[in-house]
Formats: sequence, C-alpha cells, structure tokens
Amino acid sequence: MSNHILIKEKINNFKKKINVASDKSISIRSILLASQAVGVSKISNLLESEDVLNTLKAIKKLGINYKKKSGDYFIEGFGLNNFNIKKKITINAGNSGTLARLILGLLVKSKFKIRLIGDKSLSKRDFSRVIKPLRLFGVNIHSRKNSLPIEILGTDYLRPISYNEKIGSAQVKSCIIFCALNTPGTTQIKAKKSRNHTEQLLKSLNYPIKVNKVNNIDKISINGLSQFKSFKHIIPGDISSAAFFIVLTILSSNSEMIIKNVNINESRIGIITILRRMGATIKLKNKKIYKGENIANIFIKSSRKLKGINCPSYLNSSAIDEFLIIFLVAAKAKGISTFKNLGELNKKESPRLDIALKSLKMMGIKVERKKDNIKIFGNPNLEITKNINIEKYLKDHRVFMMACIAALSFGGKWKIADKDSINTSFPLFLDILKSLGAKIN
Ligand code: S3P
Repeated sequence: MSNHILIKEKINNFKKKINVASDKSISIRSILLASQAVGVSKISNLLESEDVLNTLKAIKKLGINYKKKSGDYFIEGFGLNNFNIKKKITINAGNSGTLARLILGLLVKSKFKIRLIGDKSLSKRDFSRVIKPLRLFGVNIHSRKNSLPIEILGTDYLRPISYNEKIGSAQVKSCIIFCALNTPGTTQIKAKKSRNHTEQLLKSLNYPIKVNKVNNIDKISINGLSQFKSFKHIIPGDISSAAFFIVLTILSSNSEMIIKNVNINESRIGIITILRRMGATIKLKNKKIYKGENIANIFIKSSRKLKGINCPSYLNSSAIDEFLIIFLVAAKAKGISTFKNLGELNKKESPRLDIALKSLKMMGIKVERKKDNIKIFGNPNLEITKNINIEKYLKDHRVFMMACIAALSFGGKWKIADKDSINTSFPLFLDILKSLGAKIN
C-alpha cells in the first residue's frame, strides 16, 4: 500500500465541532505512574497511538499487567520500584523521546540490566541531557555516543541531587523527578519552565512534591520513597493535535470550529498566545479544572487580518511542538515575523527547524536565518499553484500534518510522504480532515 497522500484542492466553508486525539504527554505519564502506584489504576480516554502503545508494551515487559475493558485501561502496580523481571530485557521506545527519557528515571533500581532501544529517528537523538543527571544520582548507565542503545543497571545506593535544568525540557525534568521518586531524601530541581504534567499528576496523588514559581524558573523539591495509591484519570484532548485544526480554521475562509475538551495547561498554550497576537480569533469556553489541569472547548474562526509577530523567546517552551504550524500563519500574515532561539526544534523527531524553512521556501515564502533565529516574510496573498513534493523526513508526524494543512490552506498540488507517521500521535488526523470535506487521495 502506498504511504503517501495527494492533496490537490484547498478546503473552505466548514463549520464543525470535533474532538482531537487525547493528550500524548499525559497518556504516557499516567501509564508510567500507574505502574508505580499500589493497586489497580483506571485510565480513561487514553490516546491509542504508537508512542502510548509502546509505553504499555514497556511496562508489560517490566512485569506490570494491564487490561482494556469497555474502552478503559486498568493497570496493576505494586508500588515504587516493584517491576518484576528475572533477566536482562530490552525495551523498545519506538519513536517516543518522552517514553525513552521518562522511563529511564524508573529503571534506576533494576536488579538486571535493561537495554533501551528506539527507531531510526529516536536513535539519532541526544540522551546526554538525561544521562548526566542520572549519573549524578549514582545510576549505572552506558551508551556509546550519548544516544540509543542505552544500557542501565540499577543500584541501591542512589543519592538525592540538586540540579539546574537549563534547556527547558519537560522530558529531562520528568526523568529527574521519576528518579527522585526512587531516591531517599529530597531532590531539588531548578527547572527552566516547561510543561508540568508530571508535577500536576504527582500533586493530584498527594505525593510530597513542592513547586515554587520564580519568574521563568520552577523550583521543585521532591521527597523520595513515598508510596502512592492507584488512581483514576481521564485524559483530555491534546493541544498539540488541536493546533493543526486551529491553524486550518484560521487560514480557511468562512469557517468556524469548536474543538472539545482540550487541555489548556498554561505551560502548553503558547500557540494560543502567539496566534492571538497575530490577530486570530480564538476563544476558550466551558473552562474547567480537572486534577490541577485546565481544560476547555476551543472556539476558532477564519481570520482575514493576520499580522506578523516578534515572538518573545519566553514563549518557546509552551509552543515547542507547534512552531511548524505557527510558521504557516506567519507565511500568510502581513509583515515580517521573527522567532528566536529555536535550536531545540532541530532536536525533535526530525530536524524540524531545517525542514520547516525548506518547506516554506518551496511554498515561495522568503525566510532568513541567523543561527537559531528566523525571519518569515509573510504574504497575505499567498496562493500556491505549483506541484510540491514533501519527501521522507525521518517519518516525522508533525511534519506530515503541517504539510497537509499547508496544502489545504494555500492550494497547489501536493504529494506528501509518510502517511503512517500520524500513528505516532494522532491516528485519526486524516479521517477528521475528510469529515470537514477535505479531498485527500
Ligand atoms: C514532551 C516534552 C517536549 C515535547 C515532546 C513531549 C513531554 O520535549 O517536544 O513532544 O511529554 O515531556 P522536550 O522536553 O525535550 O522539550
């Protein structure tokens, strides 16, 4: 079966209420924490994408049983560090940086060696960012080039650390928090702001974790070795998946959309702040709080008068997975948009900054780059009439989805490879587009 799609027509005039994929970050964290809880946890509306299914496979390999009943997942944990393995095992994290980095923090007391591997894309990614703090805790961890495969052998002699997390990476912060759960004493982290779902989940379990916010830094302290009971969690929609439909609606004429039940945690909604400043109409309705997480329906309308933005870099981490799609709005806005310090984008599932700039140039948009700072020269009359071929880019789900939205918003004849990459985070992406009237072959 062919793994590319063809889009030859723009889409306009839709008015629709949709649900998007469940939150990937919260799905992965809920499974991993359920594996450490005492008793059977129930997780509802879990994202059934490859990254999350790989997380379920990983805990199963570690001797944790789960079953699915009437759409809900039931996971039986035996408390902290009670994995049940009797020999060396291999865990395959597939494409998921989140799974690979977070689970390392839970393997730090394993009596047998554990080998962690991943797909081609994950094997190119940097793991020094988690290897370094784990070694400070006293963990035995080996890798040849600070990348996968990694071997980890647990120890009973973990010591708490004080760590300054300067990247603004939630994966690094969460790996340290997970290791701290298994470590006696109090671990302190000074973390540049990033998504805080791990902290919220632990707080909702009454785990002894404290967070003090000081400007753009979170000062976190965690007491280790405190057991927690099993829990129930209902996973909300993922703003990173909603992002594609938010932008599609903004860029299409005469269209409106409501995206129901989306997580709008303050550390994730950089895209909303940025697009509003660019002139988009986005409203958050029916707001509620569930276990410390803010949730709302997102209402979006076509926006005719978009303007360029000088995007402050303090918003980078809260929009880290959304820049590809934000760039499409910048391409159609009046004036120049500037974005700074976006080097982290090249450390994702593919070198996203390089790919985004290459794709924008293919669309006829002028871009300039100095180191990790970029300028996009918007064109409010942007209409593509030529053929565009987006080939394989290490099978990056967000690159594929960005290209689909560009094709449906700007026209042209697009051939986009790696359809299957959507299974990483948003398996129903193309089905939802088709339900809006998109013609996709
Ligand atoms: C994630 C954190 C982010 C993000 C990734 C999911 C998480 O990565 O890009 O898609 O769930 O913790 P970094 O922490 O490396 O920025």
